[in-house]
Amino acid sequence: MGKVLITQSIDDEVLQQLSAHCAVETLQSGSFCDALPDEQLLGCTGLICFLTDAVTAALVQRMENLEFVSSVSVGLDHIDLPALNARGIPVGHTPGVLVDATADLAMALLLAAARRVVEGDRFVRAGCWCPENHWSPDFFLGRNISGATLGIVGLGAIGQAVARRAAAFNMDLIGWTPSGRVVPGVQGVSLEELLVRSDCVSLHVALTDATRNLIDAARINSMKPGAVLINTARGEIVDEQALAQALDGGQLFAAGLDVFASEPLSPESPLLRHPRVVLTPHIGSATAATRAQMLALAMSNAVAALQGRRMPHCANARVYDRAPSG
Ligand code: GLV
Repeated sequence: MGKVLITQSIDDEVLQQLSAHCAVETLQSGSFCDALPDEQLLGCTGLICFLTDAVTAALVQRMENLEFVSSVSVGLDHIDLPALNARGIPVGHTPGVLVDATADLAMALLLAAARRVVEGDRFVRAGCWCPENHWSPDFFLGRNISGATLGIVGLGAIGQAVARRAAAFNMDLIGWTPSGRVVPGVQGVSLEELLVRSDCVSLHVALTDATRNLIDAARINSMKPGAVLINTARGEIVDEQALAQALDGGQLFAAGLDVFASEPLSPESPLLRHPRVVLTPHIGSATAATRAQMLALAMSNAVAALQGRRMPHCANARVYDRAPSG
């Protein structure tokens, strides 16, 4: 029976179900790192990890007996996939189940940023709402959502779920996706055209070498004056310094950000100083039901691997078709 390392504690009942198939060692959250001793890494045949765990090539190399990785996330940018592909190790993830929760959060950020909801909340709580600072024709003006053009960057499952929600808000939809996919109800345009035309831009591409810094300084500067940028995908897709400058300079109206190039966000980040940036701490999938579904998918991947079956949700399924080496 192999030992499976879980990088942070999970629901007791799920842990018990897994323990029927293997020995399990649970780490303290944040302790899966290069400093782990060889004995701990060598003994494990399976790894269940989260998006905060950097599964580097160096760690994979030290896990000589590793047979599978199951990540409780849809994104896999925290994992060195080429290192696992080279060893023929399957990597499981959790697509599908977090689509609606993430699309809901993108809409929440869009509405909050465009209509200054969080800024208004801070204003009221700080006791600033008083007879001298009260309703007037230009008090707390935001941007229209209804009738505005939403540019969706990335038209996979989450981008499409955002499109369905935005259509109900009477937004005009344009979209661009690296694969060139066509989605009914969303006018396909080039990324350049999307940025120039959109009142609001929402990002839904996976982080890859091709999308890292996709929304760079030049592209931010090409955005429609007064636009709102929403990012629930990955922070490294956006040049954060350029975004902060565009907000400070008044070129962009607001931003709603759930993800950052470095997480947790540094207290030094220039994004913190702008009142119309709405910030959430990477909570796109953070509903109890969604997290339970993600864990269930990750467990089904792990149990399949432990039983010598194909993982139902494998990100590198080609490893199954390769003849075992050696
Ligand atoms: C969330 O960001 C995920 O990749 O699961």
